[in-house]
Amino acid sequence: MAKHRIGWLPGDGIGIEVLAAARTVLDRLEFDAEYLDGDIGWECWRREGDAFPERTIALLKSVDAAMFGAITSKPVKAAEAELTPELRGKGLVYRSPIVRMRQLFDLYVCLRPTKGYPGNPINYKEGIDLVVFRENTEDLYAGVEFSPVPEELAGVLGKLSKNFTPFLRLGGDEYAISCKVNTLSGSERIARAAFEYAKTFNRKKVTIVHKANVVRATDGLFLEAVRRVAKEYPEIAVDDANIDAICMWLLKNPFKFDVLVAPNLYGDIISDLCAQMVGGLGFGCSANIGKELAVFEPTHGSAPKYAGMDKVNPIATILAAKMMLDWLGEAEEADRLETAVAGVIAEGAVRTYDMGGANTTAQMAEAIAARL
Ligand code: NAI
Ligand code: MG
Repeated sequence: MAKHRIGWLPGDGIGIEVLAAARTVLDRLEFDAEYLDGDIGWECWRREGDAFPERTIALLKSVDAAMFGAITSKPVKAAEAELTPELRGKGLVYRSPIVRMRQLFDLYVCLRPTKGYPGNPINYKEGIDLVVFRENTEDLYAGVEFSPVPEELAGVLGKLSKNFTPFLRLGGDEYAISCKVNTLSGSERIARAAFEYAKTFNRKKVTIVHKANVVRATDGLFLEAVRRVAKEYPEIAVDDANIDAICMWLLKNPFKFDVLVAPNLYGDIISDLCAQMVGGLGFGCSANIGKELAVFEPTHGSAPKYAGMDKVNPIATILAAKMMLDWLGEAEEADRLETAVAGVIAEGAVRTYDMGGANTTAQMAEAIAARL
């Protein structure tokens, strides 16, 4: 019997190619695993009316960890229009399977290391090494949304908040409401994850990302909750800044930062910004971690314009596989894999298009595998 059971969810578009590339390197590492294939994404939605079918949920309940490629997502109305004709008009509503997966399995930590490997021609600056902790289950992703807005809800909001008065004259279909929901426990546990990480890996500072001067209720709660947790870690410095200022400072001087902790949406935004500083989406890797399960993925999407072209950079996904090895306690294999990735980048002989080269996805995977 294999040592690890790994869920294998390629999804759509380039998700299929980048996961195949990750498999090339995992196999060459002789990683002792059994892989279980799961369906997820746009094709499932179109054919079955469910982008995250029950059988995939059952599969994820049975594995130690999972690798996920990427999926295609579209707005609700476009999604309905692409359903197979038998399923249209049945009231099926598209919801992102990734958001559902994170919520269903309570994968509350989204961990996004941002490390620039030396010699990458598209590094923004050499030596960047940041880590983003994004809360992964609540905030504006809670899924509590209204479009059109029911009269009953408008009535209650009008009664409870005088700031709602200007909206009372609108018809329900003339506006929409998305609720930002942040809890004390949700904010505290992502804070604890960030500080524990800082302590374990000898990081010096945690920066809290928010917009508490404007979004007072939810971001105020987040900021206070993280500050309280910070008191348990006196050896680690803590500061905070508004999301807009952070974006500016990250570009101006990324070396000012170390670990960043953010609510869901701001975390999403800064992680793309951070990824771009170390080479772009072809380098952005991510772990969604809960108590029972962790799912590893590149941060990029299905990039439809490159799907099936064997063109995109698989390094983000290969680094996600490295994170999985670490999480499973296979530190030696994880280190070997990272050394191989760093070696290929530094040598510069094999480069995908985003790095200014002409090598394919498969060639990049092979170059990394050859160094293992
Ligand atoms: P995307 O991340 O798929 O691609 C944006 C652009 O980034 C690409 O056109 C390409 O120029 C570049 N890029 C992405 N991955 C790359 C790689 N591995 N190597 C080199 N370049 C790469 O974002 P986009 O185009 O906004 O969304 C496409 C679809 O993906 C949408 O349906 C969107 O909803 C979905 N999506 C899914 C995500 C996921 O599965 N986690 C995350 C983001 C978007
Ligand atoms: Mg994103």
